[in-house]
Amino acid sequence: IKRIAVLTSGGDSQGMNAAVRAVVRSGLFHGLEVFGVQRGYAGLINDDIREMDLRSVGDIIQRGGTILQTARCKEFTTLEGQQLGAENLRKRGIDGLVVIGGDGSYQGANKLSKLGIKTMGLPGTIDNDIPFTDCTIGFDTAVSIVVDAINKLRDTMSSHERSSVVEVMGRHCGDIALYAGLASGAETILVPEVPYDLDEVAQRMTGNFGQGKRHSIVVVAEGVGRGEDIANEIMKRNGIEPRVTVLGHIQRGGAPTHNDRILASKLGDFAVRKLIEGESGKGCGIIKGELVTTDIDLVVNSKKEFNMDLYELTKRLSQ
Ligand code: F6P
Repeated sequence: IKRIAVLTSGGDSQGMNAAVRAVVRSGLFHGLEVFGVQRGYAGLINDDIREMDLRSVGDIIQRGGTILQTARCKEFTTLEGQQLGAENLRKRGIDGLVVIGGDGSYQGANKLSKLGIKTMGLPGTIDNDIPFTDCTIGFDTAVSIVVDAINKLRDTMSSHERSSVVEVMGRHCGDIALYAGLASGAETILVPEVPYDLDEVAQRMTGNFGQGKRHSIVVVAEGVGRGEDIANEIMKRNGIEPRVTVLGHIQRGGAPTHNDRILASKLGDFAVRKLIEGESGKGCGIIKGELVTTDIDLVVNSKKEFNMDLYELTKRLSQ
């Protein structure tokens, strides 16, 4: 393998830049030529590919977003799109590709690998919904942002003796709600992985104030539904009107935490080394501190296991 390319795809996440930097610098260190594809798979189809050097990834390890930009590309779900993308790589002599993104991005990498391009997937998403890795690049930063927001909400909720419903991202995965809820001491955490009873949620809130608490915070993962709807249902049951905060895309921006920078650096370098060793069609991850590769086929056809122990812990501690 002599030439590789890197792209970021799907929703961006903090730490993607650190991962791009790691792929480029590790590739150059190992004597490869490295190319960057702009706007994810859309850039592959439109032939928006440029050579990268050491300096083209300078001053980015600390930045959110992605210098390569990203897109959700419908055209790439078609065979024609995939063949065109593979052709644009081949005509430059690029035979390896590192794809940084979430679930949809992995599916694209899987298709390309079946067309003969050596591909490696890196888990880049705030959602933490990729199996075969303990965490994804961006998750730690997103959780920190939510914790910081809940700290602030708690100040004003306590002053007014109010309750708060906070809607967080995560698509079908409840991990942002679970980890941020535990770390911020939220009273109730609603995630798509665990059934919930709104009567119980409403009673718990009434009970919180009855026990002398000055606030009651409900974290709702977007996969459960809209925070506004949950708040209305609570009010119908207990007469308390929670204030609603939807944190939205703020969760995807800002400087990555040191954890995300280090994870991205390790995984980016690992993906390059694995390509050099001849591996292809794999997703990279970290499990109990060990860097691992797993067949992308298996990654995209598996579901991330929900951490029920952590969920039970939040219930024990949030009384
Ligand atoms: O996958 C990352 C994510 O931020 C999800 O948490 C969220 O559901 C979705 O992307 C939002 O997508 P968009 O940026 O296209 O609105």
